[in-house]
Formats: sequence, structure tokens, C-alpha cells
Amino acid sequence: MGRLSDFRSGFLALAGAALASLATPATAQQNLVMYCGVQEEWCRAMSQAFERETGVKVAMTRKSAGEVYAQVKAEASNPRGDIWWGGTGDPHLQAAEEGLLEEYTSPMNKDLHDWAIKQWNAGKRRTIGIYSGALGFGYNTKLIAEKKLPEPKCWADLLNPKLKDEVQVADPNSSGTAYNLLATVVQLMGEQKGFDYLKALHKNVNQYTKSGAAPAKAASLGETSIGIVFIHDAVVFAVEGAPIKAVAPCEGTGYEIGSMSIIKGARNLENAKKFYDWALTPAAQALAGPAKSYQVPSNKNSAVPAQAPKMSEIKLIDYDFVKYGSSDERRRLLAKWDAEVKNLPK
Ligand code: G6P
Repeated sequence: MGRLSDFRSGFLALAGAALASLATPATAQQNLVMYCGVQEEWCRAMSQAFERETGVKVAMTRKSAGEVYAQVKAEASNPRGDIWWGGTGDPHLQAAEEGLLEEYTSPMNKDLHDWAIKQWNAGKRRTIGIYSGALGFGYNTKLIAEKKLPEPKCWADLLNPKLKDEVQVADPNSSGTAYNLLATVVQLMGEQKGFDYLKALHKNVNQYTKSGAAPAKAASLGETSIGIVFIHDAVVFAVEGAPIKAVAPCEGTGYEIGSMSIIKGARNLENAKKFYDWALTPAAQALAGPAKSYQVPSNKNSAVPAQAPKMSEIKLIDYDFVKYGSSDERRRLLAKWDAEVKNLPK
């Protein structure tokens, strides 16, 4: 009896080990490491839906665009990430130029808007547009009224000395949103005047946050009167009933092409491609709206969320993505901002 049960448990242990060894390579195939650059809620909706549909287990972390870029660069000799999904396009383009991303041509390309394909061409097939959105700001109407401040409508209005410590914006080193602002004012005003603008703005800035959309939330909570953010990030709080007004600045403004890239040397390359193709479908892009993300999707057949700011009604500059996404230019502008703006006394 004893012997038989020993034999049985021995056999079961062996069989178990054999199954486990069979299962190991298969399991390894079923993972995806995703660096996600949009709002947490949308990141979660995407990773969970992909898991549900494919059985691929997604390990997702949310980071700002400049941070993902820095991480992908730091990990280049031993890549840990597979797919970089979302976030402003400039750091994706910089990573593409620096050889940190994989070339890919998706069968979905034919269904995408020209601006998404333009991004793909600019990045030499190593990054692609997944959404777009215009830059602006949101202000807390109650605070502005209480402080008897004029309602801001233009970039110039944010320099009003009465707004001292009333404006919040992210740090362009970590945040793609804030880099978009830096590149926007340089294109809109010229480099000298653009930096003069940022230096004057600095006097009114209460905090440079890490993530780009944080100032919109702070404005909705009454922690700051104005947050410079992508307009859709301010709309989120207006839709929820917070006293927030979203503004497209009167002088004109820049915009982002939120992008997606496969990381060079991805350990789960096939799953990264699977995710990439899926993320460009109207079904996947439809996850944005319910996750309170009101960008314009890149697939022509995707429905645009009803709350999305109308790009055709916004005065947009002809943002030069190739130039401002180039390695030299992005590095130069960030170093200049660090040296001339960030630590200026107030
Ligand atoms: C928010 C916006 C996105 C944008 C992203 C950039 O999530 O909704 O449209 O791409 O910010 O984030 P970052 O923290 O890098 O400014």
C-alpha cells in the first residue's frame, strides 16, 4: 500500500514537472511588457481588454513621455519593455532616431489618417500616430471670479502679474505635454521671444509637476487657478461637473500626435506586434471615451468621442514634428529650459 502510494505520488510529481517544463516556454510567449503614456484609466482599459481578448498577460506601467524615453534608453542594452503605447510623439521620434525602436509596418496602416502615417514616415517606420489633441489650458472659473481676475483666453493672458503663483504646468524633462508647450511657444513666437515668454510665465508658476495632466486635476480641485494642459485633459473635469473651463489660446496653439512604438530587442516581439495591430482597430480605439480620454483617434473608421475638442475649430500651428522630435533639438531645448527658466528666482 505504502509503496504504491509512494509510486503514485512520485509519478504525479514527475508528471507535474514534465507539464511545468512544457508550460514554461508557452507561458513566456504569453507576456507583454507595456510602457503606457496616457492617463492611468485608459492604460488599464487597454491592457485589460487586450488580456481578455488574447490571453496575453500584460504588465503595464504608466509613465510620462520623457520618463519612458529615458527608461527605454537606459535599458537599451538589456530591453525590458516590449511596447510603448501613448504619450506625445516627440520623445517617440527621438527614440526612433536613436535606434531604440523596432521598425514595423502594420496591416492597419491603410485605415489611418494622414497625420498618423506622417508620424510613421517621420520616425522611419519606428513609431506611429494613435491619437491627436491640441494644447491649451484649463482654469477654475470659481477661483478666477473670487480673485477678480480676468478670464484668460490667450497665452499672453497667463503673464498677468495678478496670476502670480496661480499657474501650474509640468516639467518638460519628464512630461511630453510640457515639452509640447516649450516647442509650441518657440514655433509660435520665435526662439528668443518664446523663451522670454517662458521666463515671464515662470513668475506665475506655482509648481512644475511630473505628469502633464496633473495641473488640470489640481485646477479642478481648486489647488491652482490655471493648469496648462492638453485641452482634452481639462475637458475631462468640465464633463464631470468641476468648475473648469477649457481654453484654446487665441494666438493659436500646438498639438500632439500621441504615438506607439515597439521597443528594439523586445523579448515578446510577436505579442508586441499583435498589440500594435489591435491598438489601431476602431474597437480598441473606442476604449478611450469610456476611460475619459477625449483625444481624436488615428483610425479613420473610429468614432471620435463626443466630448473631444473639435480640432477644426482650433487655430493650430503647423507643428514641425520632425524638427522638434529630433534628438539634437529636443536635447538642446530641454537643456536651455533647465539653464534659463527652471531655476530662475521669482
Ligand atoms: C495625458 C494626455 C495625453 C498625453 C499625455 C502626455 O495623458 O491625455 O494626450 O499624450 O498626457 O503625458 P505627459 O505626462 O508625458 O505629459
